[in-house]
Amino acid sequence: MAGAWKFPERFLWGTATSPTQVEGHVANEWTDYIASDGGHCRVACNHYHRYEEDVDWMAQLGVNAYRMGIEWSRLQSAPFAPLNERELERYIHLLDCLKASGITPMVVLHHFSNPLWITSAGGWLNPATVPAFVDYVAKLVSALKERVWLWNTFNEPDTYASLTYLLGGFPPFHKWRLLSYRNTIKHMAEAHVRVNEVIRRAGNGGRMPEIGIAKNWTFFGAFQKHALWDRLVAGISHHAFNHFVLDAFLGGQRRAASTFLGVNYYGLARFKNFEPMVPAGGACPKQLAQLGVVCDDMFERHPGGLGTILRNFHRRYGLPLYVTEHGAASSDEDFRIRDLTRHLDELHGALNSGVDVRGFFYWSLLDNFEWQFGYSKKFGLLAVDFSNEKLPRQMTRVGEFYRGVCRTRKTPVAVQDFPVAAR
Ligand code: FCB
Repeated sequence: MAGAWKFPERFLWGTATSPTQVEGHVANEWTDYIASDGGHCRVACNHYHRYEEDVDWMAQLGVNAYRMGIEWSRLQSAPFAPLNERELERYIHLLDCLKASGITPMVVLHHFSNPLWITSAGGWLNPATVPAFVDYVAKLVSALKERVWLWNTFNEPDTYASLTYLLGGFPPFHKWRLLSYRNTIKHMAEAHVRVNEVIRRAGNGGRMPEIGIAKNWTFFGAFQKHALWDRLVAGISHHAFNHFVLDAFLGGQRRAASTFLGVNYYGLARFKNFEPMVPAGGACPKQLAQLGVVCDDMFERHPGGLGTILRNFHRRYGLPLYVTEHGAASSDEDFRIRDLTRHLDELHGALNSGVDVRGFFYWSLLDNFEWQFGYSKKFGLLAVDFSNEKLPRQMTRVGEFYRGVCRTRKTPVAVQDFPVAAR
């Protein structure tokens, strides 16, 4: 049991969303997609029309940072086209609303979605996507550089490339195309390096821009320690999703293209007979609970892993870190509060041991369109009632708890023990 702790004054306390998941009225490869619960993203939370109200909610939460995406398909209608002025104005207004509320934006340039003209030309398998993306970013950065200094180029390239080309979860739903997975990562890594040059050249109104990716970090293991095949699957997953991707973006000279590293951290996946024993992989949460596996509605929880990975990245790359996503999906709010508390405890421990972590972004501001799972996973600090066409937002108890953390920069209560797998 740890005591209450205090965080540095300049620490960014944020929350996060992505355009396809919250904005609605988007025309990209997700528009016609129907998720497992029958949901689609065509209206989502209607953040597109309601961002002013959502910024007010953020102000109520007391966050001082917001990790938000900008949707490429809104801004360019063809490769190398000028940016759509009206859509640009809308994002500029959103950034100005954030500024007026004292909220620092971190802008994500690619979060699992592409314009349809990119998709139909082969997406990130086509090397021509790289210069097209660089052109888009150059125009965007020149328009926003007075307002944005924190640039997150790619969100979870590993998740995007694996669900698109290995696991068949994201459009165009391909499976086991190893070479496509590899090439997607390679092209994104090349785009990251080139975009970094563009952003540095453009500069920023008086402040050095910061540039980095958000790496999803999942720990992989075998459900039964001695099951050789499962250990092998875990080892291969670790190599393909963690090691290979980090090396592509940060290995050798490419390390110089990042000024920070973002970490999206949700937990652990353990394999049993080649299947990941997590709800997101189809395992039954009730059965998992009977086996003593603590999960939210997606992954096995492993709070200690957050401290481990922050220390490890700090040692390995020496870059400032941001926890660009952490959150839990569950209808049990006490569970979500305990989960958050335990992870913040780990974060604080890492800071105390000298790791340069500069911010934490809770996933997510709103319940939203969770890709393949539609609206069935509730990650929001604000609950959204999707059965009501007015899409009312309501503060959750986790939101109240996080407000206390953001306002006081410490936990309002002593940290409680969080049960981790009891096996
Ligand atoms: C991350 C994604 C984000 C959301 C959360 C739950 O992998 O970046 O869009 O889906 O998981």
